[in-house]
Amino acid sequence: QVAQALKSVARNEHIKSYIQQSNELYPILLKAAKRFVTGENKQEGIEIANELISKGYFISLEYIGENITDLKKCIKAKDEFLHLIEEIGSMSIKQTVSLDLSHIGLSVNPETAYIHLLQIAKKANMYGITLMISMEESSKTNDILDIYKKASEQYPNVGITIQAHLYRSNNDIQELIRYPGKIRVVKGAYQESDEVAMSRSKELNNCYLKLVEQLIEANHPVSIATHDETLIQEIVHRQYLNHPNVEIEMLYGIRPDLLSNLKGKEYNCKVYLTYGKEWYLYLCHRIAEYPENLYRAVTDMINP
Ligand code: FDA
Repeated sequence: QVAQALKSVARNEHIKSYIQQSNELYPILLKAAKRFVTGENKQEGIEIANELISKGYFISLEYIGENITDLKKCIKAKDEFLHLIEEIGSMSIKQTVSLDLSHIGLSVNPETAYIHLLQIAKKANMYGITLMISMEESSKTNDILDIYKKASEQYPNVGITIQAHLYRSNNDIQELIRYPGKIRVVKGAYQESDEVAMSRSKELNNCYLKLVEQLIEANHPVSIATHDETLIQEIVHRQYLNHPNVEIEMLYGIRPDLLSNLKGKEYNCKVYLTYGKEWYLYLCHRIAEYPENLYRAVTDMINP
């Protein structure tokens, strides 16, 4: 509940501008966020990406933002993604860029998000970069899947994220499997009603495994995105990570020990990196899905 309240606080425009203008609060909160976010600008993201690549990881990079209702800000975000792709495309980081469609226009209207996505996908395709679409609240699932399907037909380098906690996902995957894009399987980070989603449980882990199993059997490119050690043990036991087009992906700052261990076994290991000024919302997401992070954040803030 505290974490959900924090998310509402982070979305509040008045509080946002108060934090941004506060010389005391801003650096303290940013310090706590740095456990999970590379920094505020793309250079910081690229620097950490390069470090991780030199250690043998794959990377995915996101410019953080969501639910943008101002068209000018969506265009700015779209341009930032284009610049990011140009920059990493001209270096050796030809890997993955991730985005929320509500960052580039979905909250204005679906057509805007689609047009912006195509521009970004085209550039990513030119540079051999994969573009992964994140999945947002269930109220947006239909729009996100529709946009993905249209884009995927033109740009096979576009992939999609699917949330195992949604009851609908088992049906969705039957259709998504017919499109070429990589599918990232996550448990789901958003608070949903009991009618549409299940909570963290053995049942959810079984649904997660079922989704992954179907993708593996279809030889579909898949990103297994979880930090759940029990789930990962089962995935390793089933030898899913031995497939060349399967990777395990974790968020930056969460269970790096576990990912390093898997990299030692020569599996494809990817780190999901983020940068941007909207880091406090991202921090709140990480606290909401794992409330112990609230104590870590407070410790980070008060430690010199
Ligand atoms: P679970 O939540 O059950 O956690 C298992 C264990 O992992 C915990 O016991 C803890 O040890 C560790 N852990 C998990 N989260 C932690 C945290 N925040 N801090 C510290 N430890 C933590 N969601 C979504 O709805 N849409 C999306 O597009 C994406 N995209 C995405 C990409 C990638 C690469 C990842 C890894 C995750 C996402 N997510 C997401 C988030 C996802 O839905 C989910 O909320 C988190 O991954 C946490 O769930 P786990 O599978 O790790 O299991």
